[in-house]
Amino acid sequence: VSSLRLGVAGLGTVGASLVRLVDRHGAELSARSGRTVEIVAVSARDRSRDRGVDVSRFAWFDDPIALAQSADIDVFVELIGGAEGAANAAVRAALEAGKHVVTANKALLAHHGAELAALAESRGVSLNFEAAAAGGIPIIKVLRESLAGNAVTRIYGILNGTCNYILTRMEREGLSFDACLADAQRLGYAEADPTFDVDGFDTAHKLSILTAIAFGTEIDAGAIYVEGIRSITTADIEAADELGYRIKLLGVATRSESGIEQRVHPTMLPKSSPIARVDGVTNAVAVEADFVGRLVLAGPGAGGDATASSVVSDIADIARGDVVGTFGRPASAMRPYQRATIQSH
Ligand code: HSE
Repeated sequence: VSSLRLGVAGLGTVGASLVRLVDRHGAELSARSGRTVEIVAVSARDRSRDRGVDVSRFAWFDDPIALAQSADIDVFVELIGGAEGAANAAVRAALEAGKHVVTANKALLAHHGAELAALAESRGVSLNFEAAAAGGIPIIKVLRESLAGNAVTRIYGILNGTCNYILTRMEREGLSFDACLADAQRLGYAEADPTFDVDGFDTAHKLSILTAIAFGTEIDAGAIYVEGIRSITTADIEAADELGYRIKLLGVATRSESGIEQRVHPTMLPKSSPIARVDGVTNAVAVEADFVGRLVLAGPGAGGDATASSVVSDIADIARGDVVGTFGRPASAMRPYQRATIQSH
């Protein structure tokens, strides 16, 4: 039986968790798929940094593109991040070389998902990204596979762990925005550039991906109204509390007859609503669809272990030989994005 050889580019919080996960569960993953699933090579900027895991046993590549093209790997796992630069070039190189790609990179998909999906399809390989939205929550599979028998009408929720962590601690402990953000960075929740988190762009990237799968349309991250949480004060949170509300940063996508509306902004939610009660780094996604009704999924939205869990679910699909199509349908069958004419705020 052939083995499935993984090359991992990027050994930050998620990469280190992925190495530990494969150490612990590699044998079981292999037993499930009938193929030996193993990390054979890695790439990162700093070779000597202590990551709490032994990476010296893997072949080392200074250049992620060389790793992406290496004849010694079958799957390129991209955990570098960023829409342009090394991540973008290496993912393209991997797909062009006929490698499957697993990525957690929401910015890359939000900006280049359509062309990358077409490239993967032309090479007959998978481009999987369960970890790119809502961390450990398996929302991509739910939209792409489990809800195949539904027309989705609305999808909304808390999609950024860093912002929810900040808002929760400001509310509970009266701490300043800056102190909470520093802790979120220390815990490995925030993006390399945390302005993506606090200004709403990370939520927008994730929302654009969910929208594309849910509604079968081309990705349009540029069509989203985006407002972050930087201007929210503890006084705002207290005022909302007195009125029976909590403030959450939501991403919302709605489909109506005139088209799709996507928006990201702080929202006052009645305390009794299921999403208002979601605290800390937890994310929650609600999906409304015609046959199933309303689903709410909640779980850790950031952090190395939860995100690595989603990365491995994609690797397991590839090991089994499942090919679902990047956005759940052929790239040529993505409908054009039609922006709604009536905006309801
Ligand atoms: N910075 C992101 C967050 C990481 O806080 O949600 C998970 O995508």
